[in-house]
Amino acid sequence: MADKPARKSRSAAWFGTADKYGFIARSFMKNQGHAARMFDGRPVVGICNTWSELTPCNGHLRMLAEHVKRGVYEAGGFPLEFPVTSLSEPLMRPTTMLYRNLAAMDVEAAIRSQPMDSVVLLAGCDKTTPSTLMGAASVDLPTLLVSGGPMLTGHWRGEKLGSGTSLIKLDAEVRAGRMTMDELMQAEAASSPSAGSCMSMGTASTMASLCEGLGVALPGNGAIPAVDARRQALAFEAGRRAVEMAREDLRLSKVLTREAFEDAVRLCAALGGSTNAVVHLIALAGRVGVEFGLDDWDRCGRDVPCLVDLMPSGKHLMEDFHRAGGVPAVLNQIAHLLHPDRPSVAGGKFGDGYANARIDDQAVILTLAKPFKPAGGIAVLRGNLAPNGAVLKPSAASPELMRHRGPAVVFDGPDYLKKRIDDPALNVTKDSVLVLRNCGPRGYPGMAEIGNMPIPAKLLRDGIRDIVRISDARMSGTAFGTVVLHVAPEAAAGGPLALVRDGDMIELDVEARKLHLEISDAELAKRREALVPYKSPYTRGWEKLYVEHVLQADRGVDLDFLVGKSGGEPPRESH
Ligand code: FES
Repeated sequence: MADKPARKSRSAAWFGTADKYGFIARSFMKNQGHAARMFDGRPVVGICNTWSELTPCNGHLRMLAEHVKRGVYEAGGFPLEFPVTSLSEPLMRPTTMLYRNLAAMDVEAAIRSQPMDSVVLLAGCDKTTPSTLMGAASVDLPTLLVSGGPMLTGHWRGEKLGSGTSLIKLDAEVRAGRMTMDELMQAEAASSPSAGSCMSMGTASTMASLCEGLGVALPGNGAIPAVDARRQALAFEAGRRAVEMAREDLRLSKVLTREAFEDAVRLCAALGGSTNAVVHLIALAGRVGVEFGLDDWDRCGRDVPCLVDLMPSGKHLMEDFHRAGGVPAVLNQIAHLLHPDRPSVAGGKFGDGYANARIDDQAVILTLAKPFKPAGGIAVLRGNLAPNGAVLKPSAASPELMRHRGPAVVFDGPDYLKKRIDDPALNVTKDSVLVLRNCGPRGYPGMAEIGNMPIPAKLLRDGIRDIVRISDARMSGTAFGTVVLHVAPEAAAGGPLALVRDGDMIELDVEARKLHLEISDAELAKRREALVPYKSPYTRGWEKLYVEHVLQADRGVDLDFLVGKSGGEPPRESH
């Protein structure tokens, strides 16, 4: 019988039995025109697609899936594409981060419950990379990720326009009265000139690049533009490798080792990558049982300089980065800090992917001898204002504010911030420290990207472009400034941020990794007694589950019951 499997595989539990159960699985699949020999025991590769017309950054992923399929067929596998929840950064409200763990649950259930021997994850927009990786890690089949790739560079009035970063700057010009709204609308049309994700080194590009650093994506994944034919060739190769990985049983847990996370953090520092990577990598490490936390982020990234001149820390964009050599060229520069002998989904050793890489444009990728900025890593701050830690990205901050002391101007939430920030009566100067609370994992809920609060209009008119800002929120990877984020515990969890009052003096010392509220312990205890505990307004649905189970920023903002993995054993038959 042609349907009899030649070898035992996971998918054989569905397709490989000569009984009524195998009949059901095969016969329904054959209504799509699959030949009988597709069920002969060859590796079945699931293509987990986050395509959606509502996620414009992933709008081309159906086309890219076709190239993965070609590679799978060529290597003798059977590709089957399936959809999962897609998270759209520009459109989803209140924030995509509220749904990252929900999407990861969807991915985990979709992979575990269906016949596949290995998986290709197709992702792009910010949260689609961690959500697919986290879900896949909890099943732990042989898995690799293909990113959709960044958009081409935007241009307007002779300037490069970088996703997010340029909008923040242009919006500030409008609020300072130096640009009209009409001009801003003209820039809108030039801002997203092709298919793909944000083309600055924001969260999407950071995560796509870190997938290379982790070894869960092929070399080139981080920077090849979405519309470059080489992106399609990479997808083809990923399809081939997915078949080989099924035969090699190269599971995600064999690739995602502690050494892999350390290398990814070092790469993130060299790239001046997004602060969002902190919560995503900690959550991913939790799924594969690797102990990896904030102190590892500080330790591994502390002495790594930023080597790339890319927005938001610099001026170039991902297209330039790719032309200059991309991630392999950066890995080659920091090779002495990495673990070259660990496995990679590319086959062979991780170090093979960058051993011969070179820099082709030193204006974009600089060298260790002459870096772009001396401090690339994520600084982890602690003190009585952030007992469990907070983060700051030195490469995107103002050097003169890295050591600062100033009075707090407190905003109790995003609505209050919006209403009050441009009030001429707001008591704020360039020395003030803006404090925003109730925007953390539980309080917002979902830990919104509003930690880079806008500079008050009256300071903008005086030419001030940066002041110290502190919150329990996140910020967009495309944002910049002297911004302390992810304060843990958050205000809604009873963190000290809830106790700050207007005028309290706050000290920030990045070199000493210190964030201190200059209020006595006795006074803080008095304020805590008067504090009204946060009460969630959510009584049903996903939001209720999320608020009750979400972990704090220092633990990756995963849900407490999702940490770890349950494996990929085929579930029992139900017919
Ligand atoms: Fe989708 Fe930036 S908005 S990648």
